[in-house]
Amino acid sequence: MRGHLILNYIKSFQVNNQKVTIQYEKGNIQATIMRSDIVRVVFDSKTSPTHSYAIENEKTEKTDYKVEKKANTIVITTDLLNIIIYPDKYIDVYNHAGEPLVLDYRGSRKKMVRDLSDQQTQLVVAEGHAIDSLVHSTNSQAVKVLHQNEHFYGLGDKTGFLDKRGYVYDNWNTDDPSPQVESFTRLYKTVPFLVGLNENRPFGLFFDSTFPSHFDLGKESNDYYVYTSSDDMLDYYIIGGSDMSDVIGAYTYLTGRTPLPQKWTLGYQQSRWSYESEEQVNYIANKMRKNKLPCDVIHLDIDYMNGFRVFTVNKANFPKFSSLIKRLNLEGYKIVTIIDPGVKRDEDYSVYADGIASDMFVKDAVGKVYQNTVWPGDAVFPDFGREKVRKWWADNIKFLTDQGVCGVWNDMNEPATFNGDIPSDVVFYDELKPATHLQMHNVYGHNMARATYRGLKEQTGARPFVISRAVYSGSQKYTTIWTGDNHSLWVHLQWMIPQLCNLGLSGFGFSGTDIGGFGGDTTPELLSRWIEAAIFSPLLRNHSTIGSRAQEPWSFGEPTLSIYRKYLELRYHLLDYLYDLFAQGSQTGLPIMRPLVLHYADDENTRTINDEYLVGENILVAPIVMPGIKKRLVYLPKGQWYDFWTNHMYIGQQTYVIDAPIEKLPLFVKGGTLLPWRPLTQSVNVTSENTITFKLYGNSGLYEHYQDNGLDFKYENGEYNLYEISVHNSILRVELTHFGYELPYTKITIDKNGSTTDFLWEANNKKYHLSN
Ligand code: GLC
Repeated sequence: MRGHLILNYIKSFQVNNQKVTIQYEKGNIQATIMRSDIVRVVFDSKTSPTHSYAIENEKTEKTDYKVEKKANTIVITTDLLNIIIYPDKYIDVYNHAGEPLVLDYRGSRKKMVRDLSDQQTQLVVAEGHAIDSLVHSTNSQAVKVLHQNEHFYGLGDKTGFLDKRGYVYDNWNTDDPSPQVESFTRLYKTVPFLVGLNENRPFGLFFDSTFPSHFDLGKESNDYYVYTSSDDMLDYYIIGGSDMSDVIGAYTYLTGRTPLPQKWTLGYQQSRWSYESEEQVNYIANKMRKNKLPCDVIHLDIDYMNGFRVFTVNKANFPKFSSLIKRLNLEGYKIVTIIDPGVKRDEDYSVYADGIASDMFVKDAVGKVYQNTVWPGDAVFPDFGREKVRKWWADNIKFLTDQGVCGVWNDMNEPATFNGDIPSDVVFYDELKPATHLQMHNVYGHNMARATYRGLKEQTGARPFVISRAVYSGSQKYTTIWTGDNHSLWVHLQWMIPQLCNLGLSGFGFSGTDIGGFGGDTTPELLSRWIEAAIFSPLLRNHSTIGSRAQEPWSFGEPTLSIYRKYLELRYHLLDYLYDLFAQGSQTGLPIMRPLVLHYADDENTRTINDEYLVGENILVAPIVMPGIKKRLVYLPKGQWYDFWTNHMYIGQQTYVIDAPIEKLPLFVKGGTLLPWRPLTQSVNVTSENTITFKLYGNSGLYEHYQDNGLDFKYENGEYNLYEISVHNSILRVELTHFGYELPYTKITIDKNGSTTDFLWEANNKKYHLSN
């Protein structure tokens, strides 16, 4: 504060439970201690606060803290944070060791000026170049000190590489089908959650606003980073923690965690725009089984509907829709159907007529139902911000579940429109209050996913499987996501890793890309490398656009088909490892796919690795993401790492040259791992899972394994099993530490460097004994 002229002094402060209100000569700030590692900061504004879409229920936990006035400042101390609030509404947050986490920048912004005359601008634009806008609404803003070695992660699905420093991003859910490049500042999702790493000190900043907002992470200046918003209200959370896992844990404590999915949703999924008839669906199902390609799901894109009318089926092409689904179920397949929000304007169509009669659709400024164009032509849009509309939509899901549909894929829910953007005076409700498109746009997909989740849950009682394109922070409670319309381009394969890793750090543990690429024509090499690279992505789906070259696994013959099969088999062998990670993630908020920096932030080398990822903590994947490459450099972090294919042991904190011919994905398992390995099946069938093997890497290990019916919510009432498997000083043990699921394994095998030991279930004693 030295040399700074104070314009707005602190007058007083009041404490109400864990909320400290600091009164200034002009205005006030509220600092709420949510927990010892989370402080919420709210600045007074013209508008009154609305409820949060991201954070449901009261999240303030009883926490010990101290607040005192020191000279001109108010100092709030918890076990983990030291928060200093200054005159002029500056706030600095330090960790308990007194090291800086998030500090307000004291200078004024020096906005970047593009040195172009009007005439030059015209010339540049005339050739077709875009000049990115430097003007962003600053109804509210936060400007923070940028440290020299600071890195940024999170922010949802933004384009580019892992570290977001130096780039700008917008939060305005957008469907832009052109090939996504680094200059795209926005995609389908709004997750205004930034994970920072300053040296080895992680922090989180969550700006809870649905309004359009903008991040400048060191493009405008090397001295500060900025969040600006068109929202009047500045309402954000500062999160501290001793490591990045704590920060993700705290953010997902606030916004919710990816729940345990049905187990089959982790199987392979085959899609295309579109399998448009029963014959085509049967053909795909048969081809999969004939080629011994494990597969659990076939997706139906928009053409299964009657003229793109949602909640209808094209009877000409699918004359026996429900019997088709029933038969496919017996063959081990589930059917997932797409549903878009745009409802066709057609008086003779019951969903439209019913929606009009019950006032379900968004209206324009003069109260007329608002219309735009999407797949079915003229369409109207359910006003998902209202409870009544969400219930209506949830009830409509019955049409699908009654016919055996097991999951719903929500698309176009930014919402996308073909006939220009939705004007800002169109009225979207925020529950019972009229609001604007500006406020409700970024939660349109979120609210649609909530409604879909609810419909599936009410109708089936199973853990809902929803896939959504547009989301907001917190949608992870209701839906999985995919990254939308990528292209069959190597750079999009390359980006899959940072994009899914950043989504994971943003709370979205269940995510995937269109394998092979959606737009454009894939090649055998790209498809092979994509299935290798993506094999641990939680949502494993091959999908492509209409008119593109076929990219089902057999489309290119050999060797692509065998490579594809090899990796699907690997996925199915390791499915329990993924399911265990989901079980853990539902408690911790940690994702399945993780950037190395999440667990090795103290190792500088990991902070910008874009082409490797961890699966949980125990598997490291180093895919080939460029054409023609047959070997690559792999950095292994600290510890011992075993080559999955050869069992060769490598010492970490070094870079190795690893061979990777077309059929090989470089894969490593951390020393000390007991990796669950299940027998190969062509689809997931939980009730037949009665044996499992744990493969030991190294000399000793300890592993906790979770098991339940993979289907419904009975696990919430204790209907699950927990196993503790250990190898220590040559003593092998298997213990059932929680018994609640009636089908424990009959045999558990520990595989120690090729020598196996079996443990058998003793039903009478409810424990495992070593087989002789
Ligand atoms: C959008 C979706 C894509 C889908 C297509 C047709 O482009 O992103 O996945 O196939 O619409 O429904």
